Amino acid sequence: MMRLDKLLSHSGYGTRKEVKEFIRKGLVLVNGEVILNDDFKVDEINDDIIIANEEVNYEKMVYIMLNKPSGYVSATFDNNSPTVLDLISGYEKRNLFPVGRLDKDTEGLLIISNDGGLAHKLLSPKNHVSKKYYLKYDGKYKDNFKDIFNKGIQIDDYFTKPAIYEDLGNNEAYMTIYEGKFHQVKKMMEYVNCSVTYLERIKFGNINLDSNLKRGEYRLLTKEEIELLKNSN
Ligand code: URA
Repeated sequence: MMRLDKLLSHSGYGTRKEVKEFIRKGLVLVNGEVILNDDFKVDEINDDIIIANEEVNYEKMVYIMLNKPSGYVSATFDNNSPTVLDLISGYEKRNLFPVGRLDKDTEGLLIISNDGGLAHKLLSPKNHVSKKYYLKYDGKYKDNFKDIFNKGIQIDDYFTKPAIYEDLGNNEAYMTIYEGKFHQVKKMMEYVNCSVTYLERIKFGNINLDSNLKRGEYRLLTKEEIELLKNSN
């Protein structure tokens, strides 16, 4: 059992103060009855809860797809820069964190969640979850890039796993990697004397970046996407 205002706020319907307003205005029904007190206790599994004619689906775990803009760090807190969590509102008490990291200047698909178990699985090096990037680079393209990245290269103290490089012409490419070392794509391109000038993640595991999301926008993953994410490889 939990407080009605807490459940609504945790479900993304606003801050505690905002959802209390909804309740006081008589917009919230529990099992068909209007509830006017915000400390009303609800059974989050079995009760039917309606807010402003919309059914509330309380999920303890939250899975958000963010289209990360440049300029935000992938952390829950930073002394100097805004974080990706500053872009998300209404989930303040849900202990969200970014699942993995994109560089401050990297854009695109970032999953934000509070599911530590899933994050651990997706980020564990032994699971080789794929990440696909679109990139632009300065430097000269050579036909052997595909082979070089497919064979793997020595970067710092590690040898990269086979990666898929797809050249798009015009100093643009896709790169799919199966690990996620610090600055990995940028370092891989440096290895072939190129410098990444723009980087965007377009796929993470089985999840594609939703092209309807503008930079800085986010949405909850659908049930199907959550399943896809859980089965990612
Ligand atoms: N590789 C990088 O170099 N940067 C990222 O943000 C992600 C992958």
